[in-house]
Amino acid sequence: MSAVLALDDVTAGYSVDIDVLRHLSLTVEAGSITGLIGLNGAGKSTVMKAICGFVPPKAGHVVYEGADITGLPPHKLSARGIWYIPQESSLFPFMTVTENLRLPLESLSRATGTPARNEIERRFEAMLDKFPALRPKLRAQAGDLSGGQQKMVEFAKAWLMRPRLCLIDEPSIGLAPKIVEEVFEWIRLFASEQMAILLVDHNVRRVIAMSHRIYVLSLGEITASGASADFAGDLHEQVKQWLGINF
Ligand SMILES: Nc1ncnc2c1ncn2[C@@H]1O[C@H](COP(=O)(O)OP(=O)(O)OP(=O)(O)O)[C@@H](O)[C@H]1O
Ligand SMILES: [Mg+2]
Repeated sequence: MSAVLALDDVTAGYSVDIDVLRHLSLTVEAGSITGLIGLNGAGKSTVMKAICGFVPPKAGHVVYEGADITGLPPHKLSARGIWYIPQESSLFPFMTVTENLRLPLESLSRATGTPARNEIERRFEAMLDKFPALRPKLRAQAGDLSGGQQKMVEFAKAWLMRPRLCLIDEPSIGLAPKIVEEVFEWIRLFASEQMAILLVDHNVRRVIAMSHRIYVLSLGEITASGASADFAGDLHEQVKQWLGINF
């Protein structure tokens, strides 16, 4: 498998003098889930923001499908097939669910000519088959939906865009256990459709179980990495501590 995304020696931060990420390298492959785990404040969300241009790297390279996209602004990345489901909501609360779902796809269509009108309609119907619970909610204001329903809109919106790389930050935070199961099913669905997924979630056990490759981030540096099996059999000391496992 070749890497869809490669971060090569990336250093990034919010101010000139403090680097939140230091010399960070990782790869994400098509059709597979790559998990990024670390304590609060380790820099996980900053990694995602550095990839999609919200926090442009000061040094190093972000390479996507073989092209250098370092520091490209977020609005240019959706047209290239990169989508970001952020930790916080990206929905417009006073717009309807339908408007929230269609907006990015229609903007993309206007800007680039694809997808064509009939393809938008086809995708919208297919989306309702994948996320049937949204059908009765289409005319509701997004802000009136429950947290779980809003998360479903986020994933349906992403799925409509058909990204080849999807960055998913803390998708299960604040959700009831039953909804959390659904969220992880959607992530598996995305990967089964050949998307490359970079996943951050505080549920470390879950991330380890469902990721093909895992990176551990500590204070902005990758301190361990391996396949799921490496972590499941003999957990790294650091991960054991986070999980509260006595040894
Ligand atoms: N907009 C910002 N301006 C300045 N510093 C920031 C900003 N956002 C985050 N930071 C700092 O960068 C560091 C990494 O934050 P980040 O949000 O990437 O961590 P995280 O691993 O995603 O944490 P969490 O698990 O709490 O979501 C923290 O020290 C944080 O205080
Ligand atoms: Mg975060």
